[in-house]
Amino acid sequence: MKRVGILTGREQTFPESIIKSINEKGNGEVIAEMVTVGGIRLDEAKKYDVIIDRISHEVPYYRATLKRLALEGTYVINNPFWWSADDKFFNFSLAAKIGVAIPKTVLLPQQDYIEDITSESLRNLEFPLDWEGIVNYVGFPAFLKPFDGGGWKNVSKIHSLEELWHVYNQTGKLCMTLQEGIEFDQFVRCYCVGQERVLIMPYDPTKPYLSGMQYVNVTDYLSPELHARVEKDVITICKALGYDLNTVEFAIKDGVPYAIDFMNPAPDAELASVGEFNHNWIVNAMTEFIFKKLETDFETPEYRWTSMLNPSAKKTETKTAAPKAASTAKSKTIAKPAKKAAEKKPQAKNASAE
Ligand SMILES: Nc1ncnc2c1ncn2[C@@H]1O[C@H](COP(=O)(O)OP(=O)(O)OP(=O)(O)O)[C@@H](O)[C@H]1O
Ligand SMILES: [Mg+2]
Repeated sequence: MKRVGILTGREQTFPESIIKSINEKGNGEVIAEMVTVGGIRLDEAKKYDVIIDRISHEVPYYRATLKRLALEGTYVINNPFWWSADDKFFNFSLAAKIGVAIPKTVLLPQQDYIEDITSESLRNLEFPLDWEGIVNYVGFPAFLKPFDGGGWKNVSKIHSLEELWHVYNQTGKLCMTLQEGIEFDQFVRCYCVGQERVLIMPYDPTKPYLSGMQYVNVTDYLSPELHARVEKDVITICKALGYDLNTVEFAIKDGVPYAIDFMNPAPDAELASVGEFNHNWIVNAMTEFIFKKLETDFETPEYRWTSMLNPSAKKTETKTAAPKAASTAKSKTIAKPAKKAAEKKPQAKNASAE
């Protein structure tokens, strides 16, 4: 019997639906349930074959627990090691390198630091910052937003340098990015499951967050060309980042889909927010993905950091002579640094889960 655990926060309908869906399909052979954990021992035994993680980004104890459980061969959705290392600015830069349209973005030094950091500690920091240069590059309107965040927290639309300084001065210890604002004609959010299945959802961000009014029911919202490009970009991004579940958001202007947010490894899937069609799609797609993993007796994932950027591309390269994935050529370019790093001895020693 295989066991699937769900680790979740306040959400209700997604955990209920996915547990029900897996248990129905599992027929007693595969069981899904809520995870229960307490004090985690060094020699903690394996309890789950798969864990779906929806909350460890907000509970460090859960993140540490998941990493520990991965050591026993539990497959965690999403990879807790990569998620810990990931940030949105790196993602913007990586996606731009592999051919996805990204609005001009600048990483900013923090406005404030922990107590022991003084101006002496920051001798490497240019002062004053070249604010004129930064805003000339990004332009207005712009979005000031955290390099690692979610839930629209601390995201501000900025129209002038004075407004930028005013808002930036309230960001404290948060590390922020300034990004070109795309005055979009269309907007979509896309689920991606298993780095291959994509659902493009028309989305209206002018409606209140989580109101249930943001996901718009429009058929044939994108032209066939745009639809194909968005789908391809979503897969390119999710393969590069190695996320099994993610959402990618695009602001579309003059026929160009700009990816503006794609570090969402625990995306909203609540019935009241995303609507019945989208909710059912994600529950079914996740159920099928998990069963495919279990049936093919998945390999223990490589959790060395050198392999994390693109484990699937690595497998594709070694196993298949004629890879099917649309973005294989692009994947290879980003697999390169990982290979180089793997040659270094200290990294090779760290192999923990092969
Ligand atoms: N570059 C941009 N151009 C246009 N609109 C933007 C841009 N960046 C952010 N926005 C707007 O602000 C909203 C929130 O920004 P973003 O998605 O980056 O924040 P978040 O906190 O990661 O949100 P989420 O909860 O979706 O993960 C977007 O849905 C979009 O409407
Ligand atoms: Mg977003």
